[in-house]
Amino acid sequence: MLTEKIKSLDSEISAIAAISTTHEDIEKYRIEFLARKGKIASLYDDLKSVPNDQKPMVGQQINRLKKKAEEVYETLKSKLDSSTAKKELVDLTLPGRMLLHGTRHPITRTIEQMKSIFVSMGFGIAYGPEIEDDYHNFEALNFAPHHPARDMQDTFFIKDDVVLRTHTTPVQIRVMKSQKPPIRVIMPGRVYRNEAVSARSNYFFHQVDGLYVNENVTFAELKGTLITFAKNFYGSNIKYRFRPSYFPFTEPSLEMDITCFLCSGKGCRICKQTGWLEILGAGMVHPNVFRNCSYDPEKVSGFAFGMGVDRISLLRYGVDDIRTFFENDIRFLNQF
Ligand code: DAH
Repeated sequence: MLTEKIKSLDSEISAIAAISTTHEDIEKYRIEFLARKGKIASLYDDLKSVPNDQKPMVGQQINRLKKKAEEVYETLKSKLDSSTAKKELVDLTLPGRMLLHGTRHPITRTIEQMKSIFVSMGFGIAYGPEIEDDYHNFEALNFAPHHPARDMQDTFFIKDDVVLRTHTTPVQIRVMKSQKPPIRVIMPGRVYRNEAVSARSNYFFHQVDGLYVNENVTFAELKGTLITFAKNFYGSNIKYRFRPSYFPFTEPSLEMDITCFLCSGKGCRICKQTGWLEILGAGMVHPNVFRNCSYDPEKVSGFAFGMGVDRISLLRYGVDDIRTFFENDIRFLNQF
């Protein structure tokens, strides 16, 4: 019976629809069912032999099957099209797109290492302005009126009594004037000096100052703090030495050297054959500095220190020209 044939073709089409995925499958299906000599077309031939009174009913069944067969074909084709389109979007043989992420500047990295060591020793962090007045940069720090550091040769003047700070030490004055002891802070930042630019020196650079003020602060505590820092920062097996020095804002004053970490103390170009590298200046806060901040030097004492950041970064990262730090050449900066 034709009606049965139609039914069995119907389920055949459903089965094929469920498993056909490739271009070949779909083409084979089209030829088998929908082509001019395909199975559906042959149903219309068979219709001729159906008794006249049944023709409309069977004809409708064939029409419905034909419609279904065509829909299945369209659906299979559009599924295949969209999956090949997706495949074309992803070409696994192409090199991946690089994620460009920034790196921290070597100077920033050095400062952050210093900060984390001092923070672990209980120091806070304070900042001050890069444009400073003569009072904070010099006078309150006990510089005599005609101290050579005030000379035009060393200092950039903005006005008679306004300068680009020549060190981060003026932040000590600002901190002491705005806080009460005990005070324990480090003060990182950029400083400026009117120096000839070369591979070794620049007209701006970076310092980290430190200040501890309390009752009965001792010179031994200063030394202990500096040694702890140096061992953490440069390595626990370094050797160090203290030399007497002079700064207007500390008394007594010292400078600290460590064994040159490039030649391990044997003597090289960097340490000028001495085997030692100077890493910082320090001392006990001068009574005049306390007085300028309305602290009573009979009641409080303190120590202070200051160190450069740029030269140390130069040595640590094996960079041979300080100017390259600030040229913003991405090829240089990417190496850190
Ligand atoms: N301000 C000094 C300089 O620029 C460094 C320094 C020395 C800072 C001793 C201090 C200190 O706080 O106590 O060379």
